[in-house]
Amino acid sequence: MQGTRPHLTDPLRIGNVEIPNRVLLAPLAGIGNWFVRLQAKRYGAGLAVSEMISSFGLHHRNERTLRELMRIHPDEHPVSVQLFGHDPEVMRSGAAIAAEAGADLIDINMGCPVRKVRKTGAGAELLSDPELALALVRGAVEGSGLPVTVKLRSGLRPGDRSGFDLALRLAGEGGVAAIGFHPRAATVGHKGSPDYALTRELAERVEVPVIVSGGLKSAEAARSAFRESGADAVMIARGALGNPWVFEELTGRRTSPPARPEIVDELLWTVDCAEEHLGADRASRYLRKFYPWYMDSLEAPTAVSDELQRSADLARAKELIAGLVESAAVP
Ligand SMILES: Cc1cc2nc3c(=O)[nH]c(=O)nc-3n(C[C@H](O)[C@H](O)[C@H](O)COP(=O)(O)O)c2cc1C
Repeated sequence: MQGTRPHLTDPLRIGNVEIPNRVLLAPLAGIGNWFVRLQAKRYGAGLAVSEMISSFGLHHRNERTLRELMRIHPDEHPVSVQLFGHDPEVMRSGAAIAAEAGADLIDINMGCPVRKVRKTGAGAELLSDPELALALVRGAVEGSGLPVTVKLRSGLRPGDRSGFDLALRLAGEGGVAAIGFHPRAATVGHKGSPDYALTRELAERVEVPVIVSGGLKSAEAARSAFRESGADAVMIARGALGNPWVFEELTGRRTSPPARPEIVDELLWTVDCAEEHLGADRASRYLRKFYPWYMDSLEAPTAVSDELQRSADLARAKELIAGLVESAAVP
């Protein structure tokens, strides 16, 4: 019923975990590390989900997986750690290690369309093996003792509803605490219009919260998807890249776009976190994917963006970014 619809600013419970609002940061492979999640939280996200982490990497206590991918900042909680894999025993042990490392929730990736992941039987491939998907959830629940959620696609190919059907089973007999639903087929990747009507059907049929993902490129798009889909929460993905202010907009803390100095300060904060996390050398390469997200809103001259892309010197990168406080656009 219309009158009973929650607001994005209302709290949400996932299992026994209280999330202060219904605006989440989506899992983003190669991006959603502790400082990207912390950034989202600083700007008001109720929950941030980690980039996908290999259950095998955790199970084998791979050093870099533990030290870098599993790193959790004390101010991030509650935090959800997304695992991928295809072996229930390994998922059990990986989830136990993630819980030990401080995860508040475990999410299992059942949506990744990348061939390298699918050919192992993980990610979106799980839509074609519901029994294995259920066993992975059981493993994660038993191993971690935490609420376990899944994030999945609507199907493998356009028109296929295997993800929808799997979501019904996972919510019913599977014991998942929430479902992240990306209503696009795996084969279309991140293109095309998400099917919010199908999300609505799912939200009406399951007891657990449904979190909609897909096409949420701005606060306005997220609000309208929240309405259209009848979902319990939204999960911002590409719309948050270089734009943590979207969380302030969606939680009612901001109505105007950030001023240039705020954007510069935020990018410098990101650079400092990356340097602390990876050391200057690795950070200068890692940050190359971050810079373009901020360059547009800063209307940076091409020469500056190009130099940042080539730069192996973090001190010089910081100097270039700081210089962007002054508007480059001379009328
Ligand atoms: C660079 C990138 C990395 C992603 N990594 C993950 C991931 O690790 N796990 C996952 O479940 N989804 C991942 N996704 C999917 C997003 O979480 C989200 O569902 C998708 O981008 C659709 O939302 P959007 O259209 O608002 O961007 C990724 C998407 C992008 C663009």
